[in-house]
Amino acid sequence: MSEVAAADIKIAPSLLAADKAEIGAVMAQLDDHIDVFHIDVMDGHFVPNISFGPSLVESVRPRTKRPLDVHLMVERPERWVSLYREAGADWISVHAEATAHLERTVSVIRESGARAGVALNPATSPDGLEFVLRDGDFVLVMTVNPGFGGQSFIEASYRKIAAVRRYLDDAGLAGVDIEVDGGVGAGNAEACVAAGAAVLVAGSSITGAEDPVAAAHALRESALRATIND
Ligand code: DX5
Ligand code: ZN
Repeated sequence: MSEVAAADIKIAPSLLAADKAEIGAVMAQLDDHIDVFHIDVMDGHFVPNISFGPSLVESVRPRTKRPLDVHLMVERPERWVSLYREAGADWISVHAEATAHLERTVSVIRESGARAGVALNPATSPDGLEFVLRDGDFVLVMTVNPGFGGQSFIEASYRKIAAVRRYLDDAGLAGVDIEVDGGVGAGNAEACVAAGAAVLVAGSSITGAEDPVAAAHALRESALRATIND
C-alpha cells in the first residue's frame, strides 16, 4: 500500500459546524492554518437535511485564497455543477449513488476547470471508479452517513479507506487522493492517514470547537504522525 506523504496532508474545515452568522469570521481566523474550506450542500432529497446553496459559495469566495471544496449531497448533481463552479467552487464532489451518469458528471466537473471528486457512502464500493477517475481527481470516503454534522465515525471506515486506497493503486490511480468526511478529529486522524487518507474534513472538531485554530493544529499533528517524509 502506498503511504501518504506529509506534503499531501490537507486540513479541510467544514463550514457546516460553524455559527452561520459568523462564517466569515471563522474563515478569517482559520485561513492561515488550514488548506481548503469544505462546504456541504444538501438538498433535502439525497440526504434528509438542507444546508448551503450557491449564494453561500459566492459570498465566501472573496474571503479566502484557499480552495473551496464543495461537497454536493444532492440528487442528479449534474444539474448543479456549472452553477457552483460559477459561484467559485474549486473542487466539486458528487455522490456515486446520486447520478445514473457518473462518468459524464465527473467529466463535466473537470471541463468546468474544477477538481473532480466522487463521494462514496459507507456501503458503496469503489468498483467501477477506474473507468471514471483520472490522476488529479479525488475520492471522498464518507465515514458517517451523509446529512448531518456531529455524528460518530464508523469504525469499519478504516478498512474501507484502505480498500479504496488499494483499489486505486491497483488501477494505476496512485495520484487520486482520498478525502475522509464525518466524525474526523485529532483522535482518529492518524489512523485515517495510516489507512490511506490525505484530505481530512472536520466540522465539529474544528469549526465547532471552542478554539478552531488550536483544533486545526491538533488535527494536523495527529495526521502527520502517520505520514512518510519524501
Ligand atoms: C456530513 C458532511 C460533513 C460534515 C462533517 O454529511 O458531509 O462534511 O460537515 O461534520 P463532522 O466533522 O461534525 O462529522
Ligand atoms: Zn462533507
